[in-house]
Amino acid sequence: MGGDGLTVLEAKRVIITGAGQGLGRAYAVAAALAGAAVVVGDIDAEAAEQTVEAIRASGGRAVAVTGSVAEWAVAQQLTARCVDEYGGVDGLVANAAIMRNADPWDDTEEDLRAVAEVNVLGVQFTARHAMRAMVESGRGGSVVTVVSGARDGIAGMSAYGASKGAVAAMTANWALAGRAHGIRVNAISPLGLTRMSQADHRSDRPPMPDPSRVAPLVTALLSDSSAPLTGAVLRFDGTALGTYGSSLRTVATSSTGWRAEDLAAALVEEAAQ
Ligand SMILES: NC(=O)c1ccc[n+]([C@@H]2O[C@H](COP(=O)([O-])OP(=O)(O)OC[C@H]3O[C@@H](n4cnc5c(N)ncnc54)[C@H](O)[C@@H]3O)[C@@H](O)[C@H]2O)c1
Repeated sequence: MGGDGLTVLEAKRVIITGAGQGLGRAYAVAAALAGAAVVVGDIDAEAAEQTVEAIRASGGRAVAVTGSVAEWAVAQQLTARCVDEYGGVDGLVANAAIMRNADPWDDTEEDLRAVAEVNVLGVQFTARHAMRAMVESGRGGSVVTVVSGARDGIAGMSAYGASKGAVAAMTANWALAGRAHGIRVNAISPLGLTRMSQADHRSDRPPMPDPSRVAPLVTALLSDSSAPLTGAVLRFDGTALGTYGSSLRTVATSSTGWRAEDLAAALVEEAAQ
């Protein structure tokens, strides 16, 4: 990892879900090269093993855990394996997710359930177990969640975008809860040329970098070097690093109470802004 420093994650034990391919694989390879011992989680056993082999081939430490993050027992196993194999959990990258393309009125019950189970419950399940281990160890840790520009609206991605909105809310709440325990929680909104992004057929799709260009941000967030950042939602495309704010802007005030028609007039004025 040219320029990343080979020891920035020395002695760190990290779990990365969805690390069999795409961005997750790049995060796992980069974390291992930076010195971390990595639990490679993926529903695809063969892909997970390939990532483990690639890490070991370059002298790194990794083991695979196969199964869906949407299963409580698998989420539990990711943490248990990290503790058994490496003695604790210092980091989690809750990266595994699925995307379904449809207009909201064409979503099927099956797809809505699948997206919510993997992208919402799967993140909650894996983080729940990992954060519990971090609390019990008294050492804290770093949790990286993954959101998407779709939470602000991308045509055909409403179920997926909603799930990423939920992840942003988890990030804010976990960052708050984790402060007293030294647990940092930050979200990234990445861009990378992967199987998932190739299924995005928008004509205005932004250019997609190789996932290896995005991985240094995850390494940085897992590292103590980025403390005390917590609760941030970062955008990174391998070139520009950005951060999302969450400010509330006052549109109008009334000290005497509002009538519906006056509120409507204020809203029309706001819409014209
Ligand atoms: N690629 C992009 O440009 C982009 C943009 C914004 C956000 N993201 C987010 O980045 C993350 C990685 O995306 P990607 O593009 O690498 O996707 P990908 O589809 O290429 O890879 C996802 C990996 O997760 C695994 N996975 C899927 N369901 C799983 C489950 N239930 N349990 C465990 N593993 C499972 C897959 O087997 C695969 O290895 C996702 O959270 C995605 O929403 C990606």
